[in-house]
Amino acid sequence: MDRKINRRDFNKLSALTGLGLVAGGSSAIMASSANSKVVLAVAGIHSRGLDLTQKFSGLNNCSIKYVIDVDNRYLPKAADAAEENQGKRPLEIKDFRKALDDKNVDGLIIATPEQWHAPMAIEAVKAGKHVYVEKPCSHNPAEGEMLIKAEKKYGKVMQMGNQRRSFKVVEQMIREIHEGLIGDVYFARAWYARKRGPIGMGKVVPVPDYLDWDLWQGPAPRTDYRDNIHPYNWHWFWNWGTGEALNNGTHELDVARWGLEVDYPSRVTSLGGRFHYPDQDDWEFFDTQNITLEFPEKKMITWEALSGLSVSTCSGDRGVMFCGTKGRIEYLSSSYKVFDLDGELISDVTGLRKSADDTNTSDPGLNDYHAENFIDAILGKDTINSPMTEGHKSVLLGHLGNIAAKTGTLLNCNPKNGHIIGNPEAEKMWSREYEPGWEPKV
Ligand SMILES: NC(=O)c1ccc[n+]([C@@H]2O[C@H](COP(=O)([O-])OP(=O)(O)OC[C@H]3O[C@@H](n4cnc5c(N)ncnc54)[C@H](O)[C@@H]3O)[C@@H](O)[C@H]2O)c1
Repeated sequence: MDRKINRRDFNKLSALTGLGLVAGGSSAIMASSANSKVVLAVAGIHSRGLDLTQKFSGLNNCSIKYVIDVDNRYLPKAADAAEENQGKRPLEIKDFRKALDDKNVDGLIIATPEQWHAPMAIEAVKAGKHVYVEKPCSHNPAEGEMLIKAEKKYGKVMQMGNQRRSFKVVEQMIREIHEGLIGDVYFARAWYARKRGPIGMGKVVPVPDYLDWDLWQGPAPRTDYRDNIHPYNWHWFWNWGTGEALNNGTHELDVARWGLEVDYPSRVTSLGGRFHYPDQDDWEFFDTQNITLEFPEKKMITWEALSGLSVSTCSGDRGVMFCGTKGRIEYLSSSYKVFDLDGELISDVTGLRKSADDTNTSDPGLNDYHAENFIDAILGKDTINSPMTEGHKSVLLGHLGNIAAKTGTLLNCNPKNGHIIGNPEAEKMWSREYEPGWEPKV
């Protein structure tokens, strides 16, 4: 029987882990040395978590012991998927802390709504577990900094789910950019487009009996349950989500930052609004947004999002174009094209895999390699491709864009850490208000 979470329990767990009474670790080896496979738990298994359950249970050097969700309708399907791949059926539970209490669990995969990402990841490393946390790793910039602190303090493997860091095609493109294929790169234009309909005006309704609304909300200040939040549409409310800039923007902003070899911006500006469906629903973020980030190295990134259209004004529905002094590269999800300064096509690269006989992936490295990298890093066979130190810097770009758009101000930032300078209204958004008693602590 699952124990019912309450605020006192959460504090109790925090207090124990804070005192170091729950096993922590300092190396990338499995917590339960007797295991021949890395043992995992997956939290939030409706959509992305179901994909990850399928991915990880399909690898031969790990197994899933728990599937976890506060909505009990989704548990059997995820358990079925894991059982089909690994033979053994995982346990179906509601409270992630039960998995953290299990000394045989080595790692927690987090695919919950975003108010939970950093707080749950921090609790997990405090309990000695490795963490794969979906993008964006944080709900606000302060949480990203807490994750870096936690990564250093507890020494566990932490991977953000921005899987492009493990795409073979992206690895090769970034290597070529860094080797000077298109000269000195100074500008990256990133974009994203998706046809999303309106979400309606939410009505307050009784919490369905299949859902633990208190545990769903966790660290977020409490609200009544409304009928257009769960699942998925929480993305468009500031209390739980981070909008398209971090929902999908994280992927391309990260590739852009990686290619340009920049860390923190010095100036950020953004405009955006609910322009496609004005006044038709209670969606709080922007469906049309443009973010511009300037870096002290005389480099710039722009990101454009159209969350009402299925096609962008650029090629495809998402991508990054890099401009250099000798040419440009246009990157789409699993391919890239190189052009010279006159626009002549130099090369067209698509669908790279680890090796020609690699049949382990259904798509060219899209998700499988990132999952494999996480397990290999735990086993000490590889270094992690997207640690919190890097993940935070990319996620911060979207947070700063959202803060600039929300406050309607140009942000001046400290290029050493991205902190906002001389703008009290914007600086307030560096962190968030927490439900009392649920504040994350490293
Ligand atoms: N890397 C990628 O390409 C990719 C793709 C899709 C989604 N994502 C990310 O994955 C996350 C989940 O997205 P989604 O579309 O699956 O959302 P979703 O709303 O469909 O699913 C989230 C699930 O988490 C559950 N949940 C909420 N609180 C929980 C808790 N305390 N413990 C356990 N479960 C809890 C919900 O009940 C729900 O079933 C988001 O952060 C999203 O950005 C990443």
